[in-house]
Amino acid sequence: MGSSPAARGPSTRAVDSRAVPPPTAPKGTHDLLPDASTAWTWLHGVHAEVAGRHGYRLIDTPIFEHTELFERGVGTGTDVVEKEMYTFTDRGERSLTLRPEGTVGVLRAVLEHRLAEEVKPLRAHYAGPMFRAERPQKGRFRQFHQVGVEAIGERGAQLDVEVVEMGWRFLQALGITGVVLQLNSLGDHDDRLRYRQALLGYYRPLLDRLCDDCRRRLEVNPLRVLDCKRDQGLRDSAPLITDSMSEESTGYFAEVRAGLSAAGVPFEVNPRLVRGLDYYAHTAFEYWHSSLQGAQNSLGGGGRYDGLAETLGFPATPGIGYAFGVERLLMVATEQGSAPAPEPACDVVVCSFGTAQAPAAAELARVLRAAGVRTVLDASDRKPDRKLKSADRLGAQVCVIVGEDEVREGAAMVRDLGRRTQARHPAARVVDAVAATLAAGDAA
Ligand code: HAM
Repeated sequence: MGSSPAARGPSTRAVDSRAVPPPTAPKGTHDLLPDASTAWTWLHGVHAEVAGRHGYRLIDTPIFEHTELFERGVGTGTDVVEKEMYTFTDRGERSLTLRPEGTVGVLRAVLEHRLAEEVKPLRAHYAGPMFRAERPQKGRFRQFHQVGVEAIGERGAQLDVEVVEMGWRFLQALGITGVVLQLNSLGDHDDRLRYRQALLGYYRPLLDRLCDDCRRRLEVNPLRVLDCKRDQGLRDSAPLITDSMSEESTGYFAEVRAGLSAAGVPFEVNPRLVRGLDYYAHTAFEYWHSSLQGAQNSLGGGGRYDGLAETLGFPATPGIGYAFGVERLLMVATEQGSAPAPEPACDVVVCSFGTAQAPAAAELARVLRAAGVRTVLDASDRKPDRKLKSADRLGAQVCVIVGEDEVREGAAMVRDLGRRTQARHPAARVVDAVAATLAAGDAA
């Protein structure tokens, strides 16, 4: 002890910095850079708008929760809990975990604050980072972002239709085409107990053909075996959940399908669709896109989670929701050309030509901003032609030049960077002149 670099204190900081490689982002994470922020903000705005149109309001829960919440909620037999959680012990010796998904945290918050007792269902949408220690590849990250919704406190086929359809409308609003909606029912608790026996009966004689993970998982949660990427050959002949479903569950699923058809939302029934998290019952769905490959072909997914509230120790409360992966949506929207191009940093750059002119330029920038014009001030001591080039690079349409002559005359030069024309205006008329130049540029 005491010999680690951190423990030795500041004196050891005098390391030759040339020997240390510069820092990079951790594997599986990515930086949102300003050029990508236009599409990012657009996507979040579209989701909030679509959700808001359906009566869903924003909810935001902590990025970390007690580890037990995810173990109980997501399920100990899942990949997410078994292998992918970022778990740490805090200074109070509590085990905490960076959230791998949003549903259990939102459900915890809604029930902890008793929000679903009067308003049923409580409708909420959310957005934020999630963390899963997966092997990074195209469309799969360790820190990724989701937008999602949860409707908590009601069980009814029309609510399932609302949520599945809302996800569909969201994709439409993003202009994403080529999505195939996969739909299944996982039945209720008793259906799944019957299905569990059917799966055990099928897989036990085939034990030596299963991978190590599945052999272990079979007794804990045989449904997980269906989700295995390695044993797909065996899966094709495995029993179907629909054969274990009660009349009531079958009728419920039929109602959901009829509702989606009436809403004009196309779907494929996929009796092999089991989701990667344990809390689902009845309706389960995923939005697949062919431009995303293999196991990462899902833009989003969700389902009903009646039973999850009890598992967490709350009174029984049904719920349903979905979540989309923001990075995957942006990948497809960008490929398909529906995502907006990067917005320039500003419309106008105010440049002082000469250091003595900086205060007058700053004052003009202030006036333009107060008038709502997106304005950058360049009061640096760079040469005039460098300043004009840099204004071009910023994507500005107009440069307002404040030189010695302009200050003396209480004026400014308004230069149209696109047309390369310019005219001098009294300072009091600069806002109007800039607005007219911007409008002419927009109309062109
Ligand atoms: P999920 O299917 O685990 O469901 O994740 C939803 C979406 O998040 C996926 O379809 C995918 O687009 C994205 N996603 C998941 N893992 C990664 C990753 N490692 N890298 C990039 N994107 C990823 C849920 O999380 C449930 N909470 C959905 C839900 C809401 N169910 C009911 N309500």
